Amino acid sequence: MKFFIDTADIAEIRDLAQTGLVDGITTNPSLVAKSGRDFFEVLKEICEVVPGPVSAEVTATDFENMLNEGHTLAKLADNIAVKVPLTVDGLKTCKALSDDGIKVNVTLCFSAAQAILAAKAGAAFISPFIGRLDDTGADGLQLIAEIVEIYNAYPEFQTEVLVASVRHIGHVIESAKMGADVATIPPAVLRAMYKHPLTDKGLNDFLADWAKTGQSILGKDERRSA
Ligand code: E4P
Repeated sequence: MKFFIDTADIAEIRDLAQTGLVDGITTNPSLVAKSGRDFFEVLKEICEVVPGPVSAEVTATDFENMLNEGHTLAKLADNIAVKVPLTVDGLKTCKALSDDGIKVNVTLCFSAAQAILAAKAGAAFISPFIGRLDDTGADGLQLIAEIVEIYNAYPEFQTEVLVASVRHIGHVIESAKMGADVATIPPAVLRAMYKHPLTDKGLNDFLADWAKTGQSILGKDERRSA
């Protein structure tokens, strides 16, 4: 499963990129607004830090302007994936950009029917928003199961299932079990994935016992303070 990070916060991206676990980034207009940065500047910077796909969303809602915006965004860097909303004009734009060899991430997907349309329009990624579905009382993970099943039945669908609106670790684990291709994860959720109280306790116990031996693996000159 690939991990994208769901943020436009460059400090978070730089920090998490060092883990070696970051395969791409997703942004949206709300995340760019939260960053307080210039849209083009922040995207160029993100694309330099993370070589994988970086989703940048169009803000026009009609086909012609979406297409122009898509081409403008795609020129920013080779690893830009243009994000379009799941509307009629959005999918027309998806088809046109995909035919031009530009990666498109179709966003704001809330049903299996929408996911089928996006695959037929040549989307590189479909982004089902599972947390927002859960908020309505529906089952976001059930949607992931349906889309994975449908896409697996049609090998000609090249669209990757990008689990979006992830709110907690359970969303990542269950999507991984279903074989979703990508999860776009908020920084706090990725950090939480490292944690287990038994890891902390086990490590403390090992260190306490090691200290009793009076030994050290590195010589005094080799050690650097953490
Ligand atoms: C990702 O592409 C989406 O923009 C994002 O996951 C939305 O998440 P939210 O529902 O937490 O805003």
